[in-house]
Amino acid sequence: MQLGVCYYPEQWPEDWWADDAARMVQMGIRYVRIAEFAWSRIEPEPGQFAWAWLDRAIETLHAAGLRVVLCTPTATPPKWLVDADPGMLAVDANGQPRGFGSRRHYCFSSPTYRAQSARITAAVAQRYGQHPAVAAWQTDNEYGCHLTVLSYSLAARAAFRTWLQAKYKSIDALNTAWGCMFWSQEYRSFEEIDPPVGTVTEANPAHRLDYRRFASSEVAAFNRIQTDLIRQHSPGRDVTHNFMGFFTEFDHHDVAADLDVATWDSYPLGFTQDFFLGAAEKARYARTGHPDIPAFHHDLYRGMCSGANKNRWWVMEQQPGPVNWAQWNPAPLDGMVRLWTWQAFAHGAEVVSYFRWRQAPFAQEQMHAGLHRPDRSLDQGGVEATQVASELKALGLHATGDAGTERPAMHARVALVLDYPSLWMAQIQPQGADYNPMEISFSAYSALRQLGLDVDIVSSRADVAGYALVVLPAHLREDSALAARLANSGAQIVFGPRAGAKNQYLSFADGLPPGAFAALAGVQVQRVSSLPPGVLDTVNWPNRALSGNSHWREDVQLQGAEAVAHFDDGHPAVLRHGRSWYSAGWPDAAGWKQLFSRAAEAAGLATEVLPEDLRLSRLGDCLYVQNFSRSSVHYAPSNHAQCLLGARDLAPQGLAIWKLQPSA
Ligand code: GAL
Repeated sequence: MQLGVCYYPEQWPEDWWADDAARMVQMGIRYVRIAEFAWSRIEPEPGQFAWAWLDRAIETLHAAGLRVVLCTPTATPPKWLVDADPGMLAVDANGQPRGFGSRRHYCFSSPTYRAQSARITAAVAQRYGQHPAVAAWQTDNEYGCHLTVLSYSLAARAAFRTWLQAKYKSIDALNTAWGCMFWSQEYRSFEEIDPPVGTVTEANPAHRLDYRRFASSEVAAFNRIQTDLIRQHSPGRDVTHNFMGFFTEFDHHDVAADLDVATWDSYPLGFTQDFFLGAAEKARYARTGHPDIPAFHHDLYRGMCSGANKNRWWVMEQQPGPVNWAQWNPAPLDGMVRLWTWQAFAHGAEVVSYFRWRQAPFAQEQMHAGLHRPDRSLDQGGVEATQVASELKALGLHATGDAGTERPAMHARVALVLDYPSLWMAQIQPQGADYNPMEISFSAYSALRQLGLDVDIVSSRADVAGYALVVLPAHLREDSALAARLANSGAQIVFGPRAGAKNQYLSFADGLPPGAFAALAGVQVQRVSSLPPGVLDTVNWPNRALSGNSHWREDVQLQGAEAVAHFDDGHPAVLRHGRSWYSAGWPDAAGWKQLFSRAAEAAGLATEVLPEDLRLSRLGDCLYVQNFSRSSVHYAPSNHAQCLLGARDLAPQGLAIWKLQPSA
C-alpha cells in the first residue's frame, strides 16, 4: 500500500520543485504522476522538442527518491497541431467540430492524429523509457472524459464503413441483421452508410449499437498504438490508463486487455452530485459521498486486468477536497480523505494517488482543491494524506518495493457481472426515460454491500466457477456462452429484469426473453412495462416483509420456476428455479436485500444487517470497518479478532482494522 500524487511542474516556478519533492517524501508519498497535459511545453514548435525542463523535473523527483509515473500528453494536442490539421478534431452530433481551448478535442479515428500521437509517444518513451526514476506509464488521460468517445467526423465515417464491411462482409447480411426492410432503410453498399445521427426520429437501434461498438474499438486501437510503443522503448515498466466513474462509452475490459494495471479517478462527492441519486441522497451524502460509489469502482477496476496482472489496480486521482466540475461542490467532512484512502486500500489498491499536489490559482481548475492551497500551505487533504502515510508505516502495511510486488488477496464469493454492450443496449432503447442500466447495477451492488458481502465486479467473459453467488443486474445481451458457464458453475444466480432479452443486433433474442437464460431461470417474459416516476408497486415477501418496485415490471409466465414474492396484484415479482432467481422488476434497496439474503443463504454465505452507512471489506487476513455515517457506530467482529487500528466504537468517518484469526 503506497501513496502517490499528481504533480504539474510546468505550472510552478522551477525553484519550488526541489522543495516540493522533499516535502512529498516527508509526507510519505512515493509515486508522482507527471506530464499528461504538457505537450505544448514538450514540443513548443512542430518537431522542436524542449526536453531540458522535463529532464530537470524528472531528475529533481529522482534525486528525492520518488518514483515517476510518466504520461503521454495526447489528451491535449497543442494549437499549432490543430491549426496544421483541423481534420483531426472530433465532430459532435450536430456536425460541429470541437473547438481548441480546453482538452480532449481530438477524434480517435483520425489517421493523422493517430500518427501524431504515435510520434509524440515514441519521442517521450525514447527519451525517458530507460530512466531509473520512471516506474510506470499512463497513456493519455481519461479516454472519453467530457463525452468525447463518439465523434462524427469524416474520418470516423470512413473508418465505420470499413469496420462494418469487415464485420458483415456483404451488405445483404447487414440489411438483414439490422432489419432494414423496416421503414425502407435498405442499403446497396457500405459506402452508403453514415453515422447514426441527424435522423428525424431515432436511428435504427442496431445501427446505433454498431456505432457504439465501433467507437469503443477505436479507443482500444488508439490506446494499443501507445502501449506497444511504450513497451518497445520502456520494457519492464507498468503501463496503465486512468479510467473514470460511471463511465460506459467504451468497453473498459477491451482497453484493459492492453494494460498491466488498471487505474481510476475517484471523486466521490462530484459523482454523488452528478449521477442518478435522488435529491434526498444527494443532500444526505453531500459531504461524505455515497459509501458505495468508490467501492463499486474499486471492485470494477480490480477486475479489469487478467493473467499475471489479475487484480492489479490503483486509484490514480483521489479527490483531496472540493472539486470544481460537479453541479455543486461541497467540501468533504474532515476525515473523509483519510477514509476514502483506506477504503481503496481495503479493496486492494496498490497505490492511492491524490489529484493534485497543489491547487493552481489560474485557469479552468482554480476552484479545485489540492493537497496544498495555492499559497503552498498544507490543506486539509494534505493533513489527512500525511496521517494515512504514518498509519501505514506504523502498521507495517507500507510496501517498500515497487507497486504490485506484494499483493494481499481479496476473497469475494460474490460476482456481479458488468457487460458494456448490455449497458449500451439499455441506453439505446431504455424504453423508460429513467431506465439507467448503471443505476440498477449500482443499486444491486449497494444492497450486497449493505449485507456485509465482498463483491468482485467481473466481465461477461470471466470464469464464474468458484463464486457462490453470481448477480447479473443488467445483462440484456443474449449470451449463451455465459449461460453455459453459469449452468456449470454451481453458484446461485440472480438475474435482474430484461436479462438476455436482446441479441447482438439489438433485436429480440430467440424466443421471448430471457432468451438464452430461459432454461436457467424457468420463466418467460410475456409483457414489459416501464413505470413513470411516482408509480410504485409493493412487493410482498413470505416473511411478511414489504419492499418497493419502480421503473420497470414484467409479466412472466412460469416455466418451471416458482414465485417467491408477489406484486400486490398477485403477479409474481421474484421467481426461483433451482439455483436461479429472477427479478421481474426493479427492486428498491429493501427488495434487493430480501432477494440477496435468500440467495446468499442458499449459497451458504453469511450476511449481516449492518448499521446504516457502515461497510466491511476483507483483504488478506484483515477486516476493514468503515463508518461513512455522521454518527458514532459500534461494531465488533464476531470471532477473536485483534484490533490493529481504531476500536469497536467508530467515530463518524472513522475506521477500524482487525486482524482476523484463521478459522480452525
Ligand atoms: C479528472 C482529470 C484531471 C482533473 C480532475 C479534476 O477528470 O483526469 O485532469 O481534471 O478530473 O477533478
